Amino acid sequence: MSFDLFIKNGKVIGPQWVKEVDIGIEGEVITYIGNSLKKYDAARIIDATGKIVSPGGIDPHTHFETNFMGSQVPETWEKGSIAAAFGGTTSVLDFAGLEKEEKGDTIEVMINRKLERAKKLSTIDYAVKPILKNAFYKTVDDLSSIIKGLVSTGIPAFKVFMAYRKQGLNTDDMWLYEIMKVVHNENAILQIHAENGMIEEANQNRFISEGKTEAIYHYYAKPNFVENLAIQTAMVLAEVTKSPTYIVHQSTKEGLEIISNYRMKGLSVFDETCPHYLTRTRKYLEDKIKGRHYIMSPPLRDSEDILALWNGLNIGKIQTVGSDHVAYTIAQKEEFAEFTKVPNGTPGVETRLPIVFSEGVRKGRITLSRFAEVTSTNVAKIFGLYPKKGTIQVGSDADLVLIDPNFEHKMRAEDLHTDSDLSIYDDMTSKGWPTHTILRGEVIVEDGSFYGKAGNGKYLTGKVDTSLLAGVW
Ligand code: URP
Ligand code: ZN
Ligand code: ZN
Repeated sequence: MSFDLFIKNGKVIGPQWVKEVDIGIEGEVITYIGNSLKKYDAARIIDATGKIVSPGGIDPHTHFETNFMGSQVPETWEKGSIAAAFGGTTSVLDFAGLEKEEKGDTIEVMINRKLERAKKLSTIDYAVKPILKNAFYKTVDDLSSIIKGLVSTGIPAFKVFMAYRKQGLNTDDMWLYEIMKVVHNENAILQIHAENGMIEEANQNRFISEGKTEAIYHYYAKPNFVENLAIQTAMVLAEVTKSPTYIVHQSTKEGLEIISNYRMKGLSVFDETCPHYLTRTRKYLEDKIKGRHYIMSPPLRDSEDILALWNGLNIGKIQTVGSDHVAYTIAQKEEFAEFTKVPNGTPGVETRLPIVFSEGVRKGRITLSRFAEVTSTNVAKIFGLYPKKGTIQVGSDADLVLIDPNFEHKMRAEDLHTDSDLSIYDDMTSKGWPTHTILRGEVIVEDGSFYGKAGNGKYLTGKVDTSLLAGVW
């Protein structure tokens, strides 16, 4: 047999198996998995002895080139996607709708603008998931035609905010109910930022009027119950509407149990957490200035939540890990003294997969198979990209990450490729780091150097496969 690329001797994470096998790639696709070949030709051979070979990471939650809360992320699609590649990620599912906009822009205009930038600049594959801001529709008919139209073009997932009332972004319960009915009818999936906007806003206003403006009040305005209440509301509505539902950036120990209880009833509801909720606590918000670096929503929680989230990931109560990458700089985070004005979000696209490996696999909290599922396979299954993406199988895209499990890599901003001087992991070292990232058969990262090209990323479309959803855990 003859291959363009042959990866031998690696410990490969396949679907439901982990073993030492060789992988043969022709063009963009995996065409051989096994160790029976005595003779073969390959244009290039990579010896992966001692390395883990996992499906290329799929980050379900990024905000490239976003303009949120009045602050424009300086990082470009190109730089963001390069950072993703260094961290072993070969596809991102990026949100559209929080970018710089002209008055009256429709959701379609915002999606096309995002896609134009990605087409020109992305070095890795990408899909977009529009944010259904209330400015985009007035009636249920508007909603239906927006969702129907976009689903027909291969965009099956949408996001709504229950939070950010001050920013005018929140969807109230009545509209959430209407949206879910349409999402169910059109065979889509709804992603929900679950924080109760009314309580969040009332608490924020009270603290500001009392002169309590420091970063830690971001947490006090939105303690666990504010998220749990919104999750409970979303789950009740998901049950009556039968809408597939995905709670993004879920952070509380109670919230994951609520979602899991509804899963037990047979609902297609999914739970995504993020590396920052798996590693950092709210004590970081206590520093008067640096605390602002850690402002994201929901807020950082406590060590009991961290424990519960890892356990949830391990036993299948949480299905994915997303970075929620928003590459603000230190200056942007520190510009505002009042916590409600600090732009929410933090960089994380490069560190997502290594952190799950280092803190999860290396610390014995999750298995290698679970690592591949939560960083890649489950994302592909939920968002209609499987089995082209998210798995090491003959016929699938040759998207792979090779990880040296013993390579120790610091995660200060200067050690990373994200175009920001901020890293909330600056005191952490990842044990295990990607040495090679392979996108559709092309080695785009090798031993700390980048070989990809802006514009080489492909646009990914898909549709929700309800039979696949049932098997995601
Ligand atoms: O703090 C966050 N999560 N910022 C990004 C926007 C969002 O809510 O996902
Ligand atoms: Zn959100
Ligand atoms: Zn986000």
